Amino acid sequence: MSEKKAKKILVTGGSGLVGKAIEKVVADGEGRPDEEWIFVASKDADLKSAADTRALFEKHKPTHVIHLAAMVGGLFRNMKYNLDFLRNNLHINDNILHSAYELGVEKVVSCLSTCIFPDKTTYPIDETMIHNGPPHSSNFGYSYAKRMIDVQNRAYYEQHGCKFTSVIPTNVFGPYDNFNIEDGHVLPGLIHKVYLAKQNGTPLTIWGTGKPRRQFIYSLDLARLFIWVLREYNEVEPIILSVGEEDEVSIKEAAESIVGAMDFKGEVIFDSTKSDGQFKKTASNSKLRKYLPNFKFTPFNQAVQETCNWFNANYDQARK
Ligand SMILES: NC(=O)c1ccc[n+]([C@@H]2O[C@H](COP(=O)([O-])OP(=O)(O)OC[C@H]3O[C@@H](n4cnc5c(N)ncnc54)[C@H](OP(=O)(O)O)[C@@H]3O)[C@@H](O)[C@H]2O)c1
Repeated sequence: MSEKKAKKILVTGGSGLVGKAIEKVVADGEGRPDEEWIFVASKDADLKSAADTRALFEKHKPTHVIHLAAMVGGLFRNMKYNLDFLRNNLHINDNILHSAYELGVEKVVSCLSTCIFPDKTTYPIDETMIHNGPPHSSNFGYSYAKRMIDVQNRAYYEQHGCKFTSVIPTNVFGPYDNFNIEDGHVLPGLIHKVYLAKQNGTPLTIWGTGKPRRQFIYSLDLARLFIWVLREYNEVEPIILSVGEEDEVSIKEAAESIVGAMDFKGEVIFDSTKSDGQFKKTASNSKLRKYLPNFKFTPFNQAVQETCNWFNANYDQARK
């Protein structure tokens, strides 16, 4: 008979960018002998359904949950479907947290995002500012649904003593990302564009001036931090998981890194008639640094190189 593991960790959204990264990091040696890891995707349960979610929890009886599953998308899709982003994510999150409460799960770590912060804010953004004002109007559905996770975590703690918490990553990238040019995030979209420009011998056109600045976190670094949060972080309040403010890069610098990694020799054009989006949304990682002063992030160029290598090797199967 197989030995019963002390910890059963259910990861929702296990087929996505962040879920796949956690799976890899666990398989590569971060997992511990007393932990059983279960990665689930939408084929295992539609988490919008309370009954399906409950059945998933009854089947696996997790002691811990990393909750990543969400309806996610780029700017355009958010603007068009704010109601769907709001309702689907409210339902998914409520179903997860309530099933976790009812089945006595010891700890839940859910995932927020820096793009849910108030539109009008001071910089750097920190964990105390989430509810300080309305989010940007383009993605208010997604943002309010995500903010409610923090509200629910506090309420489950106050009323029932639950250890439910959340993390706030900045822009994530890595293998298994959504490389769709129209609908995905900026970095995977750029990688795909460079791939096509190289293949077709055409110039690379980058939308906007290239001046906006972003903090990018490699999915495998985020995965290691998620595992640390699950094991060691005991606050209900969220924690920002990000590289430092000094590691913010411009879109132009990010594009140059991709051009180098993909060995693209063609012309690069910035189409400044296209919108730049928010100029910056710098987040502070000083809370993280208080806990983990020595955590080493993968250098940006190396992480971009690894992601480009993965995309080149997996072009046919990659989400595009
Ligand atoms: N990517 C970023 O830059 C970023 C930044 C900050 C925060 N986040 C947050 O990080 C988390 C993970 O994001 P990601 O980039 O890894 O997303 P992703 O690659 O798009 O993956 C989304 C995951 O959610 C699952 N899912 C979606 N709807 C579902 C449903 N109704 N029932 C069950 N599963 C469902 C998907 O399953 P299928 O594959 O089966 O559809 C997939 O595993 C999200 O909560 C997101 O808000 C992401």
